[in-house]
Amino acid sequence: MSTYKIPGMIDPHVHLRGLDWSHKGTFASETAAALAGGYWAVLDMPNTHPSTIDRPALDRKLAEMGAQAVSDWGIYFGAAASENWRFYDDIIGDVCGLKIYNNATTGTLLIDDQSVRDQHYRAWPGNKNIAVHAEGETVLEILALVRKYRKHTHFCHISTADEIRYLTDAKNEGLPISIGVCPHHLYLTQDDLATLGPLGLMKPELKTKADLQALWDALESGVVDVVESDHAPHTLDEKFSGKPTYGVPGLETTLPLLCLAVHEGRLTMERVVDLVANNPRRIFGLACPPETYTLVDTAESFTIERGNLHTLCGWSPFEGMQVYGKVRSVTIRGEQVYDGEKILISNGFGQNLYG
Ligand code: NCD
Ligand code: ZN
Ligand code: ZN
Repeated sequence: MSTYKIPGMIDPHVHLRGLDWSHKGTFASETAAALAGGYWAVLDMPNTHPSTIDRPALDRKLAEMGAQAVSDWGIYFGAAASENWRFYDDIIGDVCGLKIYNNATTGTLLIDDQSVRDQHYRAWPGNKNIAVHAEGETVLEILALVRKYRKHTHFCHISTADEIRYLTDAKNEGLPISIGVCPHHLYLTQDDLATLGPLGLMKPELKTKADLQALWDALESGVVDVVESDHAPHTLDEKFSGKPTYGVPGLETTLPLLCLAVHEGRLTMERVVDLVANNPRRIFGLACPPETYTLVDTAESFTIERGNLHTLCGWSPFEGMQVYGKVRSVTIRGEQVYDGEKILISNGFGQNLYG
């Protein structure tokens, strides 16, 4: 038998959509994709429509997620260019952390003024994480704020050798940071754009083979703390509209791609469990609920096909790849919620982990 038991898998970086973007994905469809991918819980980013940057938008997301989610969940609050730090004391009890967008991407939350970033860092109360989208030299600008305020910062979707070097130095300096990388940056490069076309467009963009190798080296050495999907569904119509939308789905392919790495001898299964479960739970301050685990058959191989996906967008940049690791079952708080094919519980079963 090659069934492996993973305690409480959590993806701390997803864009479930819902609200006014429910044509891309709903909280029901995308948390179903999370369960099918083996996850107990997901943390949802604030660049939705409306953006999660004030009390009414947060309340609307809390209500819709509460009614629909089949996995457990948390919600990020978003830093806005408007002075929304005045809401922080009011919303802190309901959210998993703060997200700051420091480079352009999907949505309207870009903050490129360092003095505005500084005010958000200064105002953020307590010790919940600040998660940042920061690419290239922007990483150094954020590190200056971490050095100044010592507030724990998670660097999302790190994708280059340079960024790994900056962050390795910062860890050696003792700064309170953690590092996430995404499967698409581990398995795809800019050379794949010729075949993927718009399905290979995301932020940060696909990089070179040397960057990809630096990410694998950092995974193996332990510098990287988390593998996060950055699950960001867009419809095929939007992808091929001629006006590029950035983002790819990933909740259902992350664990199989990591099991492929185990099969190829690049990672151990123990390391995979740290990257998708133990480390993200610890970094985001969560204990594994009792009787909450995933059973995955690490020896079974299969081909990624769009027909087998639960995500509403119905495609994957990894279609046609042969991977390992079939999710056999997910159990949350003693209740089996997924049997390898079907979702076994009703919408609204999922709980807010920060409520
Ligand atoms: C994300 C999205 O579409 O919401 N897109 C992406 O390319 N990753 C936003 C983000 O993570 O920057
Ligand atoms: Zn991002
Ligand atoms: Zn993202």
